[in-house]
Amino acid sequence: MHSLSLITLVLTAASAILAHAPVKSKRSEGLLTNAQRLKRGLPPLPPVARWSPTRHALVARASPVPCTTQTISGLIEVTDDISGTLYGYVTTDYFLGYSTFDPTEDPRTVSITIPCNPSADDLVGLNIASLISGGGGTNDHPYFGAIMSYDASDNDLSSANANYAWMGTTDLTSAVPTVTSNSAQDAQGAKQASESPVWTYDPATGALTLTWYNTDGSAATTYPVKVDSLLFATENVQHLAARLNRSDLRVVNYRLVQTTVVQNR
Ligand SMILES: *[C@@H]1O[C@H](CO)[C@@H](O)[C@H](O)[C@H]1NC(C)=O
Repeated sequence: MHSLSLITLVLTAASAILAHAPVKSKRSEGLLTNAQRLKRGLPPLPPVARWSPTRHALVARASPVPCTTQTISGLIEVTDDISGTLYGYVTTDYFLGYSTFDPTEDPRTVSITIPCNPSADDLVGLNIASLISGGGGTNDHPYFGAIMSYDASDNDLSSANANYAWMGTTDLTSAVPTVTSNSAQDAQGAKQASESPVWTYDPATGALTLTWYNTDGSAATTYPVKVDSLLFATENVQHLAARLNRSDLRVVNYRLVQTTVVQNR
């Protein structure tokens, strides 16, 4: 190769680099502080908009994603209807397949799901889902509901007799006495009708009102009662007390407490 053409090549390359040099320096100008720019005779940069009225308006206008339902989880508190005495919380334990409550046993975590802006009707006939996690009995079913006693005269609660239901866990049913799998049937073998959608919920107080639905679909006047650590439902408290020969039978109230709410989208 002629040395002349080598020199030409080198010069061409050098001029190419030089031609690009101003572009490089221009790019780096953007990284200089205004003080450095002033020293180099460059105009100051325009102020950076940290708060944009347009962007702010957009954020404010964007409405939150509406929730469809909310799931409220907690424990079921059992208190005396008259004195308000706290008896305990519905537990994960069973007695002959019936749910118990006891201040010393593990409480059962449950949940209900209701619409986000519930109407009064939305709060009636609810299921209480029983969140079983470890522990608990061998008779668990998905819902905490009521189970007609095996020796009842029929599947209805009535002021005319001492029929009563026990609280326990059951598979999902509609709001009529239904022979299905439940905790008492598992424990005793007898086919006993149960109901899951027996709850009315008051979001303001957490109150859970129990209603047994009779065979014709009508709502029985339902009194939740307790004897020892067992929970029952009856329409005639005096008849039941006499039948069980228990003067210490008490009417109780249920309430969902220690709640956490999840908005479902
Ligand atoms: C009813 O209970 C009382 C007091 O515990 C007892 O003395 C009585 O024998 C019981 N009656 C029946 C019929 O079981």
